[in-house]
Amino acid sequence: MKDIEHMNEKRQLALDKIADADYEIYALLKQRYSPRVFDDTEVSDSDLNRLFEAVRWSASSSNLQPWRFIYARKGTDSFDRMVGCLSDFNTSWASEAPVLLFTAYKEKMDNGKENFHALHDLGLSLGSMTVQAQYMSIALHHMAGVDWKKAQEEFDIPEGYHISTAIALGYYGGVLDDLSEKLQKQETAKRERIPQSEFAFKDGWKNAKEKS
Ligand SMILES: Cc1cc2nc3c(=O)[nH]c(=O)nc-3n(C[C@H](O)[C@H](O)[C@H](O)COP(=O)(O)O)c2cc1C
Repeated sequence: MKDIEHMNEKRQLALDKIADADYEIYALLKQRYSPRVFDDTEVSDSDLNRLFEAVRWSASSSNLQPWRFIYARKGTDSFDRMVGCLSDFNTSWASEAPVLLFTAYKEKMDNGKENFHALHDLGLSLGSMTVQAQYMSIALHHMAGVDWKKAQEEFDIPEGYHISTAIALGYYGGVLDDLSEKLQKQETAKRERIPQSEFAFKDGWKNAKEKS
């Protein structure tokens, strides 16, 4: 708990969101969650550089580094154009985030063949970004609810690149009352996870203990 208190000195992590882990894990991973409300502290250029640097040093298949990002700060035309590509639900809360990102990946390898692992590598790089962000008390909320075709057009994404998700990003904190009642409920709901026995199978798939 002491390490968590230390990380929480400056910002307001929701302590009731800390993962009720079955086994001991790294404090930053335990603290991470996906908020729908953020502190209005500016996320500086240097903050963003640190997040993208964490991405930069991620592992990737054949070191192809297929990840790409577009980002914009609230209050800019680009931010509004990004919001315009989000689903209505995501717009209802993510339009107040300090920063929005679109994540994208390069679909092909240099030899023209499909890079089957590009999406894996983008996800892995976002794992690195997540841990770096958590270390800085910055939260990421990933969103599949983005009209990627519209986003590709709106931002002139070149052929061969595919937008995957949007991310709302900002310092932990913010005022829960700013959200609708429904979202406040979701925000304070208990975090649920399937047990390890449902996804980690010793010696082979057949030993899986599936839920009946
Ligand atoms: C790829 C991906 C897509 C997601 N899409 C959305 C989304 O469109 N809207 C949303 O509110 N949350 C979205 N989420 C957040 C998940 O709902 C959230 O991560 C999950 O409920 C677990 O909660 P936690 O991150 O707080 O542990 C997404 C998460 C991921 C990783």
